[in-house]
Amino acid sequence: MDIAIIGAGLIGRAWSVAFARGGASVRLFDPVAGAAEKSIAEIPRMLADLAELDLLGGQSADDITGRIALAPSLGDAVRDVDYLQECAPEKVDLKAALFAEIDRHVSGKTVLASSTSIILPSLFTGHLAHKAQAIVVHPLNPPHLIPAVEVVPAPWTSQETIDRTRTIQLAIGQKPIVMMKEIDGFLMNRLQGALLEECFRLLEGGYVSAEDIDVGLKDGLAMRWSFMGPFETIDLNAPGGIRDYVQRYDGGFIKIRDGAMHRADWRGATLDRAEAERRALLPAEKLAERHRWRDRQLMQLAAFRKRRSE
Ligand SMILES: NC(=O)c1ccc[n+]([C@@H]2O[C@H](COP(=O)([O-])OP(=O)(O)OC[C@H]3O[C@@H](n4cnc5c(N)ncnc54)[C@H](O)[C@@H]3O)[C@@H](O)[C@H]2O)c1
Repeated sequence: MDIAIIGAGLIGRAWSVAFARGGASVRLFDPVAGAAEKSIAEIPRMLADLAELDLLGGQSADDITGRIALAPSLGDAVRDVDYLQECAPEKVDLKAALFAEIDRHVSGKTVLASSTSIILPSLFTGHLAHKAQAIVVHPLNPPHLIPAVEVVPAPWTSQETIDRTRTIQLAIGQKPIVMMKEIDGFLMNRLQGALLEECFRLLEGGYVSAEDIDVGLKDGLAMRWSFMGPFETIDLNAPGGIRDYVQRYDGGFIKIRDGAMHRADWRGATLDRAEAERRALLPAEKLAERHRWRDRQLMQLAAFRKRRSE
């Protein structure tokens, strides 16, 4: 399988590793001078970290790096590939212009996927000759450690493109979530946004500290959510399953929902409080170190999940 990755920043690099580890040949292109070279130079270190936890799928790091090549131009990168993953900056005009240029080099077989986090696919693909092949494939960062990806069609995306995208993502070990139509925030940011809204509301009302909200998630709800979703969780939280759960507890949740009808203010005094708590626990100069800690934690979790599924 031939893959093009366009844009070699944080996400482009992580996708390159995910596709190459999944057995695909990757062509990486970035129009900014030196950007792709700088990015590819990071890959051996990423692979060494993955190798330590046996996350290379039984392959050597050299096998995987051998499948990633720099392309000299956009045309060389995308010509005749089966699938293209755009990872350029999050600007709608830039993506619209980039896809217009890509459109001139591709045939009817290439899936044109964008990594955009929040831009609806209909906002930057409607002008393409190959618009039926355009789709959003939004990863969580980084896709080589977090399997779920959101597959979001524009109104004109063909069913064949949706099916091929899903098949390709499954083939490299990702877990595609296929949305039936586009909506702001797709799925994951809508879920994250709903939860953050409640976190800010509780903080704003002075009910609980930011630190204890984090404890409630990481040492409470997320223990189950790391291996079951909310629907499976409630299906198992009442003896008779999901209907029994709703019949028993819906009343309590209606009361909660009715009390949650005002928008929380994420800025102002609430943000000051959240930030003060966070900086007391983690001084700003330690943020980068903590990013590395998060990535190591994610790797260990990925390794644990892999062992569990073997
Ligand atoms: N960072 C995240 O957590 C995250 C998660 C999911 C999705 N995304 C999405 O992935 C995309 C890339 O984000 P990132 O975090 O890798 O950004 P980044 O800034 O790390 O990388 C962007 C890359 O695009 C290159 N670039 C600049 N102009 C370009 C052009 N015209 N055509 C192609 N490439 C160009 C830059 O040189 C850079 O290497 C964005 O759409 C973003 O929303 C990011």
